[in-house]
Amino acid sequence: RQYNIGIIVGSLRKASYCLKMAQFIRQARPQNLRYSLISIEELPIYNEDLETESAPVAWLDFRNAIRHQDGILFITPEYNRSVPAVLKNAIDIGSAPHGKNVFESKPAAIISLSPGKMGAFGANHHLRQSLVFLNMPVMQQPEAYIGNSAEIFGQGCAIQVESIRHFITQFLEAFSAWVVRQKKELN
Ligand code: FNR
Repeated sequence: RQYNIGIIVGSLRKASYCLKMAQFIRQARPQNLRYSLISIEELPIYNEDLETESAPVAWLDFRNAIRHQDGILFITPEYNRSVPAVLKNAIDIGSAPHGKNVFESKPAAIISLSPGKMGAFGANHHLRQSLVFLNMPVMQQPEAYIGNSAEIFGQGCAIQVESIRHFITQFLEAFSAWVVRQKKELN
C-alpha cells in the first residue's frame, strides 16, 4: 500500500536549501511513499491562552494535516546549534493540548542541511530530543547530515553532486522500509 508522508521544512526562506531538498524528494517519488509539504509559515506562535474553542484556525488545520499522515520527514537547517524557532513552534502546536499530540507514534526521519561542514548536526540532534518526547519512532540509521548545502543543488532542486544524490536515494529507501515496519507493528 501507499503511505502518506508529510514533509516539514524548518526554513521559511524562498531559496531555502532545505526546501530544495524537499522538492527533490517529492520529485524522486520513491516507490510506496507519497510525499507532500506541510506548511508551517502561517502558524501563530504557541500560547496556551489561545487553546480554547476559538483556537487559531491555522493551528487546527496544521493538526489535521499531521493527523492524515502515516509518517513525517523533517528537513531542517540549524540556527544557533538548534532548530529554527518556526520549526519548534510547529512541533509545540502539534503536541498540544496535553494528551492530544498529533505526532504520537508516527514514524519519522530527519535530514539536516547546512552550508557549513557539520551538516547541522546540532539541529538534527536537538530535534531528536523533542521527537523522543512526542513518542515518534525516528529512524536511527542512516543519519543524514548534509554539509555544503549551498554547493549541491544545480538548476531548481536537482542535486548535482552524485554521491549526495545516491545517499539521499538510499536514505529514502531505508525510510520507506522503516515506515512499513512501524506501520505493521502498530496494526
Ligand atoms: C544560521 N546558520 C547556521 N548554520 C549552521 O550550520 N549552524 C548554526 O548554528 C547556524 N546558525 C544560524 C542562525 C541564524 C539566526 C541564521 C539566520 C542562520 C546559517 C544557516 O545554516 C543558513 O542560513 C542556511 O542556508 C539556512 O537554511 P535554508 O534557509 O537554506 O534552508
